Amino acid sequence: MSNKLWGGRFTGKTDPLMEQFNASIGFDRTLWAADIAGSQAYARALGNAGLLTGDEVAALTDGLDAVAEEWRAGTFVIQPGDEDIHTANERRLTELIGPVAGKLHTGRSRNDQVATDLRLWLREEIARLRVDLRQLMTVTIERAEAEIDLLMPGYTHLQPAQPIRWSHWLLSHAWAWQRDAQRLDELAARVNIMPLGSGALAGNPFPIDREELAADLGFDAATGNSLDGVSDRDFVAEFLFWSTMTMLHLSRLAEDLIIYSSREFSFVTLADAYSTGSSLMPQKKNPDALELLRGKSGRVLGNLTGLMATLKGLPSTYNKDLQEDKEPLFDAVSNLHGSLQIARGIISTLTPNALVMQAALTSEMLATDLAEYLVRKGVPFRETHHIAGAAVQMAELQAIPLAELDLDDLRSLHEAFAEDVADVWDFERSVERRTVRGGSSRRAIAEQMALLRDWLTETTSLTKS
Ligand code: ARG
Repeated sequence: MSNKLWGGRFTGKTDPLMEQFNASIGFDRTLWAADIAGSQAYARALGNAGLLTGDEVAALTDGLDAVAEEWRAGTFVIQPGDEDIHTANERRLTELIGPVAGKLHTGRSRNDQVATDLRLWLREEIARLRVDLRQLMTVTIERAEAEIDLLMPGYTHLQPAQPIRWSHWLLSHAWAWQRDAQRLDELAARVNIMPLGSGALAGNPFPIDREELAADLGFDAATGNSLDGVSDRDFVAEFLFWSTMTMLHLSRLAEDLIIYSSREFSFVTLADAYSTGSSLMPQKKNPDALELLRGKSGRVLGNLTGLMATLKGLPSTYNKDLQEDKEPLFDAVSNLHGSLQIARGIISTLTPNALVMQAALTSEMLATDLAEYLVRKGVPFRETHHIAGAAVQMAELQAIPLAELDLDDLRSLHEAFAEDVADVWDFERSVERRTVRGGSSRRAIAEQMALLRDWLTETTSLTKS
């Protein structure tokens, strides 16, 4: 008899190339701990259902502990016939405890087993990513608080638009990460459902208490339909969407910082720790860490689209196509973990160049404020917008900054202009007028930080996984 789990009906040999093509052990070994935990709980469930004696349950769970120890110690030896992690663990268990190992798979299929393993594994990874995101938010809020005095140009269309606080820019990214963190918690609830007991597709024929088994494994519930249970990979797709969205946020942060750290902008200086040099040009300091964040976002998006394409059009229940769920998932998890930590490192070590940012502010960025000045004097905004535009043009013709227009020139555009128009040309005042929730004033930013911090405190202790 071959050592294949499914060898019984086969007489011909498998093409060695097919062995390789079919095998997933090269990557699904990552699931070893989940696979063993799932099997131990399943052995207990078989015991509770009267299918195994107490001694048999103990032999299985102790034997699986010994297998786990080998994985942990790095001494587990993968054999040529070990098609996947489930085969490998059962093969080794049999070597260690003998034929009683053959009772473990009673009523179970690798179809419900692998779906369960993947959810168990992802649950732990989500708990780690949750911490990564929160740490990134925390350092960003700390920076925003420490550097609230700094002003910089804000951009739309990458054209200088209006003055803002540097902290306002920093926090704009923290709000995106808050949504990422919320989404992660929401999807974690859908990951934490147990397919085990679905069998190959039709359900377990033995009186397994699935609710008890789910509780034993820390799942919130058991899946409601066995056909769906073995084939549902929505949780993987959802997680990959989350990964993609989060990477897009990191990519946009990276793009901002690539621009801001360029020689031409020089708003920020990146720490040497996150930059590299050129092998040719001695003067170069390249923002590689940022470029990798931007680059990896494309790769993670590829993982999402790849999986969606795999799932599309599959007939009901398990198909081997589903084995293709793991590599994109594993790749996304490790890239997200790395990218979130790198982003935190970049943010906590960069240096903003306050004077350069301040010097980049020009009075043209206050043209809107000039229009708003007239609004406060009772002129309708549509008119004031036009008048401020004319003032910009007038300054351009005179080749002077907007702030240096004579009061007489301004009065020629509208008689409501008075001495106090001088107050418009103050970047600090401009920013401070934006006191609305979500604005750029000191108070509005303090409010943003308080909201984010409260949210972090309220949600951090929740054990969603
Ligand atoms: N390695 C397989 C996977 O990752 C395990 C399930 C195999 N099931 C089967 N019916 N061949 O999907």
